Amino acid sequence: PSPAVGLFAEATSLSALAEQEAGCTRCPLYKNATQVVPGEGPPRARVLLIGEQPGDVEDVSGRPFVGPSGKLLDIALERAGVARDKCFVTNAVKHFKFEPRGKRRLHKKPDAGEIDACRWWLDRERALLRPGLVVALGATAIRGVLGRSEAVSRLRGDIIDLGDGVQFLATVHPSSLLRLKDESDKRQAWRGFLADLRKVARWIE
Ligand code: URA
Repeated sequence: PSPAVGLFAEATSLSALAEQEAGCTRCPLYKNATQVVPGEGPPRARVLLIGEQPGDVEDVSGRPFVGPSGKLLDIALERAGVARDKCFVTNAVKHFKFEPRGKRRLHKKPDAGEIDACRWWLDRERALLRPGLVVALGATAIRGVLGRSEAVSRLRGDIIDLGDGVQFLATVHPSSLLRLKDESDKRQAWRGFLADLRKVARWIE
């Protein structure tokens, strides 16, 4: 088939979808990012974990949650008893948004328009994977799933029915833990994060 067919035909597998994502120009973020970072995991995963957007390390490697936030997420998942390799891991926004600062690239939060543009891909990932539990890590992922902004503090920790056999759990983004300075705040936030992830572990059982 011509390349155009691959671009415009509806993808029928997650790997075909990832190839289409690589050509995405739905918002301007593709212009400065190194590459798209598609979701990754078993196509039969029952749990979909959604982050915000790739960070610097993910942008270079092309894989989600492999940098500092990813390392923390790995530890938290392990402590909570959730096998990451049984989950499909993706982001609400699939290109890295940053501001150059000297040699560094500083993470910039995606705005509502960018999240909503990328929702087109997230919806297709969800349709192809058909997970039973969708887990949003932070506010960007919440908007990517629900299509509207809701505070993490309002939703976190509750399993919500989205209909069609899909349940939804929101929790904090691991990077929010990395940003805390005060030791007791950090410990409390960590305990809260683990408590939410244990609900994922219990859901899987
Ligand atoms: N933060 C995210 O939200 N996703 C990643 O893939 C990496 C960091």
